[in-house]
Amino acid sequence: MKGVDTQSARKRAQNLSDKGSSINMAIIFNVPLSSSSSSRSKFNSRNSHILFQKRCPFPNRTIVNSSSAAGKAPTLLHKFNPRIPVEQALTPPSSWYTDPSFLALELDRVFYRGWQAVGYTEQIKNPRDFFTGRLGNVEFVVCRDNNGKLHAFHNVCRHHASLLAYGSGQKSCFVCPYHAWTYGLDGALLKATRITGIKDFSINEFGLIPLRIATWGPFVLLNINNDVSPQHEADSKIVGKEWLGSSSDILSNGGIDTSLSYVCRREYTIECNWKVFCDNYLDGGYHVPYAHKGLASGLKLESYSTTTFERVSIQSCEGGPGESEDDFDRLGTKALYAFIYPNFMINRYGPWMDTNLVLPLGPRTCKVVFDYFLEASLKDDKAFIERSLEDSERVQMEDIILCEGVQRGLESPAYCSGRYAPTVEMAMHHFHCLLHENLTK
Ligand code: FES
Repeated sequence: MKGVDTQSARKRAQNLSDKGSSINMAIIFNVPLSSSSSSRSKFNSRNSHILFQKRCPFPNRTIVNSSSAAGKAPTLLHKFNPRIPVEQALTPPSSWYTDPSFLALELDRVFYRGWQAVGYTEQIKNPRDFFTGRLGNVEFVVCRDNNGKLHAFHNVCRHHASLLAYGSGQKSCFVCPYHAWTYGLDGALLKATRITGIKDFSINEFGLIPLRIATWGPFVLLNINNDVSPQHEADSKIVGKEWLGSSSDILSNGGIDTSLSYVCRREYTIECNWKVFCDNYLDGGYHVPYAHKGLASGLKLESYSTTTFERVSIQSCEGGPGESEDDFDRLGTKALYAFIYPNFMINRYGPWMDTNLVLPLGPRTCKVVFDYFLEASLKDDKAFIERSLEDSERVQMEDIILCEGVQRGLESPAYCSGRYAPTVEMAMHHFHCLLHENLTK
């Protein structure tokens, strides 16, 4: 069985720590960021063919997935019953966390629908700013054109499918690195090289394929669903309600806004299914006193509370006496931990906000992108920033070891399903019920 032992995890943690420090330094000294250069019916045998059709994010195209494994996912779905109350419910079976066909279904029905957080507004602050990213098999580029209008496209050249842009930065146009077809920042194909003699070709029909884009607060959102016209940037108030539901005002009034200064990004590749990381986040602080003793000392865990909304859960906790004996206090008097289904977390505590974006890379691998924001008055306090990031890093390393251990346990023949601790793990149960609802539609 593939996995990592504690020693190798620690070694990797050190490497990540070193990498994170260099990224941090780049931001403190205002060096341009280089990021990761960085279907409705319940499933039954009569409509089993649906699962073999993988919706293509490109318009008017459908990819037929001939993988025989794709037929297993619906059987796995019904091993979790969202109608059973949390006090009596079994957790989803381990196969939800290990089976490749289940991940394929999740990408299609969860990640390729609805609004997904992909970045933050600071990345596309100025005209000609751009950044790239990947969600499942969808490669995307987000940019602001010369007039300041925001766009998002599939980052795929219309000639022979080369990726067009890499990393982030500024560009006046996108020139394909393969044969130099050139696209404007509005996605129009401006130049197709060496096409003399070509017939039945219109340059106006070969622009980049657009995606729906929106912003909410400091976040950039994409909607990959190709059933909706991506022509215009969506209204942020409407998107806020679609994305956050009735929690929208609570979050914006809770200090999650554009006034915070961006500090740095750290990325962690973790050997666990993406949901293991989410579950760990959603246990209502259950694991904190046992696995994060340093963090626990800075929180009044008896004050921990959890509230669930349509697609959001918010955990909150009052601050405790502190993680250290001196005046250093990164957690403040109250911490708010918001989970936005399916994979985005917003943590607001003391002067800090950090976000965690959980990206599935495979059935047992995910990448978690941490972005840190700080109240503007502290953005030049390097000592406070470095110490805060060290403490945060320690918690992430503790969580990585936990999550990788859980994944190995899920792959063991000894385990199928578990139980919920009803008074603390209601947000986790809420997450699983939402997932089941999405996957059965
Ligand atoms: S693949 Fe882009 S120009 Fe040929």
